[in-house]
Amino acid sequence: MNPRSDAVVMFGATGDLAKKKLFPALYHLADHGGLDCPVIGVARSAWDDTTLREYAAAAIQQSVGADTDDAVLQDLLGRLQYLSGEYGDPETYTRLAGMLTGAQIPVIYLAIPPSIFPSVIDGLRESGLAERSRLVVEKPFGRDRASARELNQTLSGAFDQDRIFRIDHYLGKESVEGLLAFRFANTLLEPLWSRQYVKSVQVTFAEGFGTEGRAGFFDNVGTVRDVLQNHLLQTVTLLAMEPPISEDADSYRDEEVRVLKQCAPLRPEDTVLGQYVGYLDEDGVADQSRTETFVATKLTIDSWRWAGVPFYLRAGKYLPGAATEAILEFHRPPRMLFAGEGATVPKANRIHLRLGHSDGVTLAMQAKSPGKQTVTREVGLDVDFASALGQRREAYERLLDDAMSGARHRFAREDTISEEWRIVDEILDQETRPLPYYKHTWGPIEADRLPGPDGWHEVSLKV
Ligand code: NDP
Ligand code: BG6
Repeated sequence: MNPRSDAVVMFGATGDLAKKKLFPALYHLADHGGLDCPVIGVARSAWDDTTLREYAAAAIQQSVGADTDDAVLQDLLGRLQYLSGEYGDPETYTRLAGMLTGAQIPVIYLAIPPSIFPSVIDGLRESGLAERSRLVVEKPFGRDRASARELNQTLSGAFDQDRIFRIDHYLGKESVEGLLAFRFANTLLEPLWSRQYVKSVQVTFAEGFGTEGRAGFFDNVGTVRDVLQNHLLQTVTLLAMEPPISEDADSYRDEEVRVLKQCAPLRPEDTVLGQYVGYLDEDGVADQSRTETFVATKLTIDSWRWAGVPFYLRAGKYLPGAATEAILEFHRPPRMLFAGEGATVPKANRIHLRLGHSDGVTLAMQAKSPGKQTVTREVGLDVDFASALGQRREAYERLLDDAMSGARHRFAREDTISEEWRIVDEILDQETRPLPYYKHTWGPIEADRLPGPDGWHEVSLKV
């Protein structure tokens, strides 16, 4: 068994990710008994331990609300220490090493803009800290295939591969991971999960809001790099991969890579990029920015299981609400036994997998409508996982816990990321302007027709 990390170091502790995700995750981890070590925040701001504790307390209270357990919170705050220093200054790392003398295997989280990674990695290597630490790296991992390779080289110059934890927090979501359980723990479904029965697959990632104060970051990234290259492709991977040959992290990741290798590069002619009206007026957005805030595209997987089954993917900001949902549409029955003259033709069966809010599954089936005629109507067989199974843990808590335990299977491997970049490469940095769309609509009208005349299936939205 891997030894558990005995200290947590968070570069960028003054930042947005730390506030929104990492401090709440540390709180939940402490609440579940998984945190009994020091937590050191590092950043340039001239803060001290007290300022960091106040920042963390406010972040946790905002996220956890009235349920915050004061004893857990105070215990966590008591573990927090702050180190102020420049990321490129060797003195910062000497002082950090001094604070970590009692720790055998710290976990170091890079919650900083990627442009600073190289200085921090150098500092960690030169101070000798890299040798005994685990490193967590945030997404997006590079800007394209070449820069991801370069970043990997920088990382592996300081850290062993099995100590590098590349975050795609979708892999930490119980609902997303649950796709594998749903597929491979139910013999009922697995025989249907292929081109013989599935006509098409749609994956929607929708947000009802815009850049939320992160326009400066987002404008350099765009929706393809921000969520399609990672979260959506990871979701597709879990929907489409073969069962791993064993439980270890590499068998699991081998299967992920195998299915990604079978995906054809996304084609500009099958892709619609959009930008919401008003985006150009936001602070931090470049003049005449061509950054997309919406993408819809068609992915094909050239495998025995999936050949000929289109995977339609769409993602965007300022859509009509929030949803992360995968929908499998099945072929219709060969004869419309129940469709008498003038009757409506039954709709195809679908499986809706809700992965974002109200996690669960709905099977859209046909059942006989009451009355004299044998005609059918759609009914939903629906399960809400929170009601059926209880509340699950948040992704960032699970991922921090895993990184502290040295458990790697919920983290992306170098080759996984490289394949993801290969798939999106041709639709990055298009010369043409993204098409405009109004806020709270489903993107440019051109995207509506992408999956054919029936369009996109309705998803369950949180507004
Ligand atoms: P921030 O922009 O909030 O930066 C984090 C901290 O880094 C800041 O508090 C600041 O601390 C320091 N910093 C910022 N810019 C610079 C700079 N130019 N030079 C040196 N230091 C700088 O980033 P986020 O917290 O939003 O993101 C951190 C990482 O997490 C990024 O890699 C991002 O891609 C990733 N991420 C973020 C998400 C989010 O929701 N925020 C979601 C998913 C991934 P100080 O000035 O005190 O040193
Ligand atoms: C992050 C993106 O990785 O995922 C954000 O950078 C996005 O732009 C977020 O809002 C969505 O995560 P979740 O867990 O809310 O679906």
